[in-house]
Order: sequence, then C-alpha cells, then structure tokens
Amino acid sequence: MSENRGNFSGRIGFILAAAGSAVGLGNIWKFPYLAGQNGGAVFLVVYLVCVFLLCYPVMVGEIAIGRAANSDAYGSYKKLGGKGWGALGIFGILAGIFILSFYNVVAGWAFGYFLKISFGDLLAQGEFGSFFGAFVNDLSNIDSAGKLFNSNLMYSFCFMMLTAIIVSQGIQKGIEAANKIMMPALYVILIGLIIYSLTLPNAMSGVKFYLVPDFGELRIQTVFDGLKQAFFSLSLGMGCLITYGSYLKKSDNITRSAAVISIADTSVAFLAGLMVFPLVHFLQYKLGVANVGTQGPPLIFIVLPQIFSEMGPVLGRIVGGSFFLLVCFAALTSTISLLEVPVAYFVDSRKMNRTKMVWILAGVIFILGLPSMMSQGMIELLNKLPFYPLIGEQKGDFLSFVADMCDISLVVGGCLMSIFISRRWKIKNMHDEIEISDKGYSTSFLKKYLTFTISYIAPVLLGVLSILVILEKFFGLANLI
Ligand code: PHE
Repeated sequence: MSENRGNFSGRIGFILAAAGSAVGLGNIWKFPYLAGQNGGAVFLVVYLVCVFLLCYPVMVGEIAIGRAANSDAYGSYKKLGGKGWGALGIFGILAGIFILSFYNVVAGWAFGYFLKISFGDLLAQGEFGSFFGAFVNDLSNIDSAGKLFNSNLMYSFCFMMLTAIIVSQGIQKGIEAANKIMMPALYVILIGLIIYSLTLPNAMSGVKFYLVPDFGELRIQTVFDGLKQAFFSLSLGMGCLITYGSYLKKSDNITRSAAVISIADTSVAFLAGLMVFPLVHFLQYKLGVANVGTQGPPLIFIVLPQIFSEMGPVLGRIVGGSFFLLVCFAALTSTISLLEVPVAYFVDSRKMNRTKMVWILAGVIFILGLPSMMSQGMIELLNKLPFYPLIGEQKGDFLSFVADMCDISLVVGGCLMSIFISRRWKIKNMHDEIEISDKGYSTSFLKKYLTFTISYIAPVLLGVLSILVILEKFFGLANLI
C-alpha cells in the first residue's frame, strides 16, 4: 500500500511540509492581534507554556499514530482502534474541511491585498478601514465583468485553485516541492521586514509592549485564547499530522521532528509579533496618538496598509507587497495541508482517484466558504448570527463563528486523541513506534514525560479546558469569573 500512497523524501521534506502546515495565517494574522488584545507579553508567556507543556506531546502522538497506521486520519484510527474510533478521524476531517472553507476566504483577502499593493493603487487610499470594509463586501456591487475579476470572490477562487494544483501533484512533487521553495522564502522576507521595522522611530516602545510581561493583565480569557491558538497554530487535533505522519519514513525520528516543527512554528509567531508591534508603535508615533486600535482581525488589513502608505509610494509598495506575499506563502503551505487531509481519506479509505478527489473537494470547500465570505456585511443575517453570542467585538458573524467552532473542535480532538492513545491504542505502542527510529528514547526522560502527559495531563486538562471554553463561548463564563 505504501508504494502508491507516496512518501516524503526524507526528514527535511517532512519537517518543511509539517512546519509549512503549522506556519500560516494563524501565526501572521491571528497571533499578533491576539497578543495585542491579551496584553502583549503575558499572552506570549501563556502561549509558550501551552505549546511546550501540552501541544508538543499531542503532536508526537499524532505523528506516531499516522506513521504506525500508514493511513489517512480515519483509516489510522480505525486500523489501530477499531471502527468506532474511526469516527474520531471523521470528526477531524470535517474540522479540517470547515477550517479550509473560511481560511481560504481570508487567504483570498491577503492575495488581493498583495496584488493591489504591488501592482495597484491600494496604498493611495486615504481611509483604510473603509477600504477594507468595502473590499470584503465587494460581492454586493458586482455589476460588470471587470469588477467580478477584481473581487474577493475571484481572489479566493484563485487561491483554492493554486492549492488544488499543488495537492494534485502528490506528496513529493507537489506538497514537498512547494514547501521547499515557500518556507525558506518566507523566513527571508520575515527577517528582512523585522530588521526594517526595528529601525523605525518608536520601534522600541512596540518591542517593550511585546516582550515585557505585565502579569496584572492575566485573565482567564488569555488562557483560553492561548490554548486554542496553540492548537490551531500547530495544526493539531484534526488529523493533519496523522496524515503527514503517514508519509514519514520509518527511519525518520519523530520526537526530534516534532520539536523542530514546534520551534519553527512558535518562532514564526514570535517573529511576526516582533515585526508587527514596532510598525504599530511607529504609526502611533507618526500620528501622535496613544492607540491606533490594534485590536481584532483587521489588524493586518487596516493598520499595516496605513503604515505602508506612510512610507511613501515606492518603499510602501516594496515593503507592503513583500509583507502580503509573505502572508500568501504562509497561507498556501497551510491550505495544501488542509486539503490533503480529506483527499487522503478518499484515496486511502475510499479508494478514489487522487486527482479527481482533489478537484471535487476543492470545489465543494470553496462553495462551503461562500457564507463566510458573504458574512462580512453583504448578508445581514450572516453578519450578525442571532444564535451566536456577541462577546467582545467583531464576533457574531458567520466567519468568526466557524473559526471559533473549529478552534474548539481542535482542543476536543486533541483531548480525545490522548484518550485514544492511553486507553485504547496503549502508550506502549506509541513508544514502540517512536523507538524504531530513536534508539536512545527508551531510557530517556522524554519517554517518561510523554507517558505522564498523554496518560494524565492532556486528557484531564484538555477535557476540563474544552468544557470551560464551550461554557465561555455560549454562556459568557469569562464575564462570570
Ligand atoms: N496552522 C495553520 C495556521 O497557523 C492552520 C491550520 C490548522 C492548518 C489546522 C492545518 C490544520 O495558520
């Protein structure tokens, strides 16, 4: 079976692809605004604890399941745990489909901004807030082919096409090859932008906000946001790493690969903050205001373009264009992993043709994303969902609702996966799988640590936190405590 399923060429190929999946909009779009909302450095500390204490063991577990079973998310759970556990795989695959549906919409915005900044006159707009509002809502005023071609519908359509083209090329020629180009490029652009932003006036005030924690800011909401963000950012809890792990060779070390992936992902999130906050504080200085309103999802679409336009037409185009190219690369390496999860399911467990399924799924998921796209002002009902509680700003629209539900299902998925490993598959089998390619593992401290976290800490803590997060979402728990 493994011959025709495809494999990564080696450890580097796997690490780049899995890190590519992890590094995405979550790091560059979401992480900085969550940190901004949650007190900067305090959020960073909470986030780091979540990643290394809870997420790393879950990641090792997921990769081990995939490699041991050598199948897609559903097939792996079914093979190692019986048919009933297969349902957990399906749950993850569905979560992945829904993530991709809204993720592709936001990726389309970034793609549109890249084109409009690099080759258009976006930076000449005076009012970036209203520009963004009109852009995400431009479906409502399409009355000509020219406008359709320029709309966010088209940009996200193109993004889905790019994703499908790469995935249809298979594991080594498609996914691995694309990551080998985009991941190094991403790092180069990111480092270049950080160096530039640190040289701007008032940059250090941004660095201070980001790096010096004020624990007075620590709230229960910070812990929930940090945990959900860590799962989302590391692509955990929905079978993505089971799927990628199934293409990993037996000779490649799992624990070390997982460590590199976690560090790569965390470092990009960290660096994205280090790029964004100096820019934001530079703008505050330039405009002479104390707060430019860095809160919420529009941070990179409203505040940053304003900064790029302050840089003048030429430099702004270069810096702004590079920034959105970086976001597109990051998003694309994630969308291909999201599409691969259901594709692998249909290929492995349902014996369907790969290319055909890639295109069918890309089409279906694109259509599933339309309500998210139209929830940004075009359709009132989707913009303010009656059943979706408005806690904090910007909530209540369909896109945020789907994103939230997906975040929660990742934490629930991670909890059930750790229960699966410790109660059904048995932790010993996980250790055996790891030991195949890691001789020193059997006597290591890491082995004891993983046993303890996966058997006790992860099921209990993730279980309790999942319940609390759900209560918070629908019953406003954060307002009660
Ligand atoms: N980790 C990706 C990001 O940070 C999103 C993602 C989630 C990708 C789950 C795959 C699976 O943007």
